[in-house]
Amino acid sequence: MSQRGRPTDFGTVGLLCYFALDEEIVQEFPNFIRVYRDGRVERLAGTDTVPPSTNPETGVQSKDVVIDPETSLSARLYIPKTPNPHRKLPLLVYFYGGAFCVETAFSPSYHNYLNSLTSKANVVVVSVDYRRAPEHPLPIPYNDSWAAVKWVASHSTANGGIRVGLERLDGVKLVGIVLIHPYFGGKDPIGCEGSNMVGKAVCDKLWGLSSPESEDGCDDPFFNPGKNPKLSRMGCRKVLVCVGEKDVLRDRGWCYKEELGKSGWGGVVEVMEAVGENHVFHLVDPTCDNAVAMLDRVASFLNEEDNA
Ligand SMILES: *[C@@H]1O[C@H](CO)[C@@H](O)[C@H](O)[C@H]1NC(C)=O
Repeated sequence: MSQRGRPTDFGTVGLLCYFALDEEIVQEFPNFIRVYRDGRVERLAGTDTVPPSTNPETGVQSKDVVIDPETSLSARLYIPKTPNPHRKLPLLVYFYGGAFCVETAFSPSYHNYLNSLTSKANVVVVSVDYRRAPEHPLPIPYNDSWAAVKWVASHSTANGGIRVGLERLDGVKLVGIVLIHPYFGGKDPIGCEGSNMVGKAVCDKLWGLSSPESEDGCDDPFFNPGKNPKLSRMGCRKVLVCVGEKDVLRDRGWCYKEELGKSGWGGVVEVMEAVGENHVFHLVDPTCDNAVAMLDRVASFLNEEDNA
């Protein structure tokens, strides 16, 4: 008689299968994120957090605020130690990276970076802790980010994307946008992607994880902004794109400049490329020469005369 023929074993076998299916990993990105069949998500990167503080080196103060109690959308604010508290300071709304699915606004790498940038540029920063995919797939991270921008505008006492160009934002003038190693993509490989198909495949697969419902796949305008027919409506006058020479995403940064230029938008777009550097090198090694040079460039972009 075979094992399977023994009726008393059925229950046990059935139960074991059930648990095995639940524990089955359906998507895995090594050292990054794991998704189980039952929908459970295990993050393997970007899980550390640090509390708000007064940074001893820079005197920068940070504080956490809840923007929307219903969704728990929150942000970390950074205030520089400024000699004249009555002077108007530029305001930076910052969105952390992590392919929409790892990291938070409270992670030590972003916290340290923003302490440095706040101090160097003498700006006020609102670092938005948008909700993440895959539990909250796109467009939720984008919608949270937009809700945060509107919240910032509503708290502005002075007379901010494409969405800024389409929907009015009272109280705030969006001067410019800085994109640091932007996670853009597209169906057809371009530039260095052709010789790094493995890197490109990871980028594409991650996009699928954060945007499973997307009808256009990797050519979704959220991922491939050149496919957005409204690109020319971008609501600011200048854009700085920072890329790393060795980053698989490098040519997407350059391509964004090209697409903006072709669109008829009419603003100024610049690319700063860090020679020999890879993705988010400035967070990994914030004191290296290229990271310091990039911080300086971003800080001066935020303080240019024509911002007024
Ligand atoms: C995101 O925002 C858009 C535009 O306002 C809206 O149409 C859409 O329903 C929102 N989606 C979610 C999931 O909140």
